[in-house]
Order: sequence, then structure tokens, then C-alpha cells
Amino acid sequence: MATVKLDMEKLVSLCRRRGFIFQSSEIYGGINGFWDYGPLGVELKKNIKDAWWQDMVRNPPPGPDGQEITMVGLDCAIIMNPKVWEASGHVGGFSDPMVDCKESKKRYRADQLEVIEGHHEILPLLYYAYTSNDQDLLKAALKKAEKAARASAKKLVDTPVGQAFMNVAKEVSRLAQIVGPDVDVPGTLTEPRAFNLMFESYAGAIQSEENKVYLRPETAQGIFVNFKNVVDSTRVKIPFGIAQIGKAFRNEINPRNYIFRSREFEQMEIEFFCHPDESMKWYEYWRDLRKKWYSTLGIQSENLVPREQGKEELAHYSIGTTDIEYMFPFSEEPQELEGVAHRGSFDLTAHMTKSGKDLTYFDEEGWNAMLQERLEPFKEDKKRREEEKKKLEKDERSKFIFTPHVIEPSAGADRFTLAVLCESYHLDQAPDANGKMEERLVMRFHPRLAPVKAAVFPLMKKEGMPEKAQSLYRELKKHYKVEYDEAGAVGRRYRRQDEIGTPFCITIDFDTMKDDTVTIRDRDTLQQRRIPIGSVLDELRKAMA
Ligand code: GAP
Repeated sequence: MATVKLDMEKLVSLCRRRGFIFQSSEIYGGINGFWDYGPLGVELKKNIKDAWWQDMVRNPPPGPDGQEITMVGLDCAIIMNPKVWEASGHVGGFSDPMVDCKESKKRYRADQLEVIEGHHEILPLLYYAYTSNDQDLLKAALKKAEKAARASAKKLVDTPVGQAFMNVAKEVSRLAQIVGPDVDVPGTLTEPRAFNLMFESYAGAIQSEENKVYLRPETAQGIFVNFKNVVDSTRVKIPFGIAQIGKAFRNEINPRNYIFRSREFEQMEIEFFCHPDESMKWYEYWRDLRKKWYSTLGIQSENLVPREQGKEELAHYSIGTTDIEYMFPFSEEPQELEGVAHRGSFDLTAHMTKSGKDLTYFDEEGWNAMLQERLEPFKEDKKRREEEKKKLEKDERSKFIFTPHVIEPSAGADRFTLAVLCESYHLDQAPDANGKMEERLVMRFHPRLAPVKAAVFPLMKKEGMPEKAQSLYRELKKHYKVEYDEAGAVGRRYRRQDEIGTPFCITIDFDTMKDDTVTIRDRDTLQQRRIPIGSVLDELRKAMA
């Protein structure tokens, strides 16, 4: 059966109607690139962050050698000393090449622009620009090229092939031949210019250069600058990881695709510090583990694509990066959910150079083991032993001091929330109150991620059923987010819960009043089972495990 692509407008509308996601400052017309999570959205995103923290920080699986791995957490300030961003390269280099259109006043990322050539016999030859991945703009560019060809009684023979704008516009004179994506005349696009993506502010009363600060564009740097603090204040030994969940801000030129690319978003990042000789082993470990994690939370494996970045794509700090990509419905190509990067010793070295502080690691255990082994033959001869020890300290100790390499799995909490919403959205058939099949909108969230875990209904508002249902509701809500609903026919109540992805609906009916059993209905199979009221909590626990 051919799969039908999800219509994003329908998803956006559901998210607004049921309180998952709202436009930020909506009553003032909104603000581009900013979103608010509503009562259900905040539960969903919290469950995502909690699942990540639980599975990666508190209870990560054993490492490649079957040994437990050490993970600790951090929560750093969003605003840090600006020198952090100078050292990391963000002040100088965290910029995208941008192209402005003088006519439409729109701004485009130059590396996302492509052009198609018009007809060769029409001079000057024109190129028509569009942003890659935007099918509408591609169609518009083709239309413009066809129109120009028709007007000159020519025919666009083959479907023109897209070329990178950056290649075509290498010669500045070519700009005069390029028709921008949102205009009909050539020559309105500017040369690509660097544009820094960091939001700026001022710390203190005076808005001067010295007081300039930045809202962090990634959580990672907070971890690097605290590396020594963590090593000195805890008993962690390399290899170990530091994790952080937090807001990041980027003044994206072109925020788009709902919460996929926004200007304020949340990251879930790990910096895993290891010995350089073992770094490839850990890179592979994290790459495989991170992909598997998405599958365990209900993302179908065919929609998840790990993609090793080509050398030309790698960020300046990276030795290798695998993007874990997801087939979002708004794009023909899979898009990045998370990057797993081998950052080498780039960051710690950069901060050592800028701060003058020693951020190397001394493998004390390794050194002591080596000392013991090498001094063993002299254990009866104190003098020789001391001499040998001095020699070893001079010649060998430095071999146990190194700058750790770092593997960084960096995930976006909002992007994963969007993937979960897309993946969960289903239309199927379910019986109405009279047993007639009707279309049903159901969000098939994994139970761990579902914003509401169960809904409790009294079948009728009489004969003690509401009181019994409320007592069960009060018991369950000590453990999970649950809802109580007594309004309308039970079928309608089921539909309301299906739409927000509640895995279980529990009904208190006449039999409950006699024998303390309830019906528990499964959202996906629609099956209803009778179970003792006392085992409802266990059923929920089992599903959440
Ligand atoms: N510390 C490395 C780093 O920040 P990145 O690839 O720029 O790497 C990591 O970002 C993740 O953060 C991305 O895979 C994505 O999930 C998320 N992310 C980045 N920019 C985003 C944006 N503008 N909106 C939403 N999520 C974003």
C-alpha cells in the first residue's frame, strides 16, 4: 500500500486546536521563528527530555567493552563570558553566507540557493533561482524560465538541472543574469555576505562594546568550559560524558517548517571525553546508540537515516560527523534530527589557548599501575627504587597527560518533538456509538512520550460511578499525568483521548460497582479488557517500561 504523506497543515491545525503548540505572541500577530508549547505540548516535550535524561545520563547502556559508562549532568548559564564564543570560533565564524534581494527585501542562505538555466539561445542567458527543498519555488522558477522561452518562440527542451548558486555566482558579473526566487527580473540579488547567527545583548546598565554578551547558540560550550570543574569536583575518570539540556538561540535567516528551524530551541547534548586512541570506538558507539534510541521510542526505522557527512560538509572542528536524519513530510529529502560529531580535541585546546588554563587530563590510575609494575623489581632496594621513580617521572609521566578527544551526540528536543508528532499522526477507522465504522484521528505516541497516560471515565453520572472513578483518578495522578472525563457519550470521550494520543481509557461501569473490575481500552488495538481496579496502576507501569 502506498504511504500517503502527512499534510503538515493538518498537523499544525491539530497542534493548535488541542493545545500542543501555539505561535508565540499570537494575539500580536506572532513573531517569526518563535513558538510556545501549550498544555499538552509541554508534557510531550518534557517526556522526551526526561526519556533522554533517563536513558542517556542516569541509565545509559554499557559501553563497547561491556563495562558501565559514567555520565553526569550540568545546567549552565545561557549567557557566558563572551571570550567563550571567541575561543569556540562562534564570534568570528558562526555565520552563514547570505544573499539579499534588493527588490523583494527577502534574505536567503546562499548555500541553500540553486539555479536553473534558461534557454541558451536567448541572450543574455538568464538563471532562475529557488531555494533547494522548496518545491513551490522550484516550480515558480521553471514557470518563469518557460514563460521567457515562450515569449521568444523557443521551447525549454529538457527539464533543466539545478546548479548550486554559489558556483554560478562565483563571477560577480553573473549576478546580473540571475532572477531571484521571489521576483521576475534579473540582477536583484546581492553578493553572498557573512551574517552572524548569534543574538546579542548587554550585561549591565551601559550598552557598550565591553558589555556585549551573546545568548548561547549551543549548550556544548558550557560543558567544555566546565570540564576541569567536573573532573576536580567529582570522581569521574576518562572515559566519561557530561550531558546538558537547555535553550539555544540562533538568529536563523530563514526560520521554517514549523518548529523544525526556529530561533529559540532546546538542545540535548552530550560531550563524551575519551582517550584519543579510543575515540573512533566511542564515535561508533554513540552513533549506533543514538539511532537505536529513536527507534525504541516509536520512530520507524525506514524514516530514520544515518548519513555520514562528506569531508566538504564537516564543521571546522569535526573529524567525522554522522547526521541522524528523519524523513519529515515537508521535505523530499531526509532532514537532520541529530548530529553525532567527532570533535577531536578542538574545543578543549581552543579554551586552553584562550584562557591560559590547563584543561589536560592526567590518567592517574594508569600512571600508578605503571609505576607499581616498573618499581616491583626494586621493592627491596629503597635507593634504587627512588632513583628509578625519578627517572620514570622525568621520561614517562608526560605520556599519561593528554587532551581528551570528544564525541558529541547533539540532538534537538524540538526537532524530535516534531518527528514524534509526524510519526504519531494516523487516520484509521473505528466504530462510533452505534457500531458504524467512521474515520478516526489518532496520535499513536509511544506510551513513555504520550502527554496523558490514561483517562478515567464513569460510564454514567449516577449510582456512585463518578465517585469511584474520581477515587481511581486521584490514585493514578500521583504517578502519571491522567485525565478525568465524564462529559458526553463514552464514544465521544474515546475520540477526544485518541486525538491527543492517550494510550489507555479506563471505564467505571455497573460491574465495577459490583465486583471492582474496570474496562481498560487500548488506543491502538481498540481492544477492551476487564481487569481488577487494583491492577490498573501496574498495567500503566508495564506499558511505560
Ligand atoms: N553543538 C553542536 C551543534 O550545536 P548543530 O548541528 O548546529 O550542532 C545540533 O545543532 C542539533 O540542534 C541539530 O541536530 C538540531 O536537532 C538542533 N537545532 C539546530 N539548529 C536548530 C534550529 N534553528 N531550530 C531547531 N533545532 C535546531
